[in-house]
Amino acid sequence: MNKILPFLQRHDGTITGDDRIRLFRQKPVTIWLTGLSGAGKSTLAFALERELIALGRPCYVLDGDNIRHGLTSDLGFRLEDRRENVRRVAHVARLMNDAGLIVISALISPMREDRAMAREIIGHEHFVETYLSASIDACAERDPKGLYAKARDGAIPSFTGISAPYEVPLNPDLNIDTARTTVTVSVTHLFAYLLDHCFLFDRPCISQSIP
Ligand code: ADX
Repeated sequence: MNKILPFLQRHDGTITGDDRIRLFRQKPVTIWLTGLSGAGKSTLAFALERELIALGRPCYVLDGDNIRHGLTSDLGFRLEDRRENVRRVAHVARLMNDAGLIVISALISPMREDRAMAREIIGHEHFVETYLSASIDACAERDPKGLYAKARDGAIPSFTGISAPYEVPLNPDLNIDTARTTVTVSVTHLFAYLLDHCFLFDRPCISQSIP
């Protein structure tokens, strides 16, 4: 345990989570997109963000490639680095959810145990594991950044799917095969999920009372 933790005290404001739910008319959630490089995580994340913002829904994308320029710029792609990457992003997502925002994270997050850790940090009821299940062949064929070709030439070590593992989610909340589903339809699936699970209060929610 961190040695200074016993000397830290939590401070709570007077604004509650319910206050923020009423303010934003949404229940905070983290849509955790996981899948191979090139599966379309960033594309889908930003497309969904665009739709949500257009409807006045406060949300934000935590994108692996972007975050690795700052918060996680000290990390590489060893499994322990990826785990730390997931841990930090999960804590940021948790803070953003606490602030009332919808978070869409776009990280390969290849290991089941690490995604389970993210679920623990963020909280089960706020976590939607979404597997973008485009196959390695589909991703390598697309190869939008030319990384698969480089990885196969040995120029990029420990590349997910080529020389580093990707553990397929066993029981994801959502599974979207982005090799067969357009971005527009994928956004529609995610939107329907948010509505059906009463994260957005656009229509009467039968499973939850609207605060
Ligand atoms: S994660 O595994 O730690 O979750 P993250 O999503 O942050 O990965 O970053 C993945 C991005 O880093 C890829 O989309 C790709 O652009 C780039 N990248 C560079 N080296 C690697 C590598 N060895 N394996 C996977 N992605 C890599």
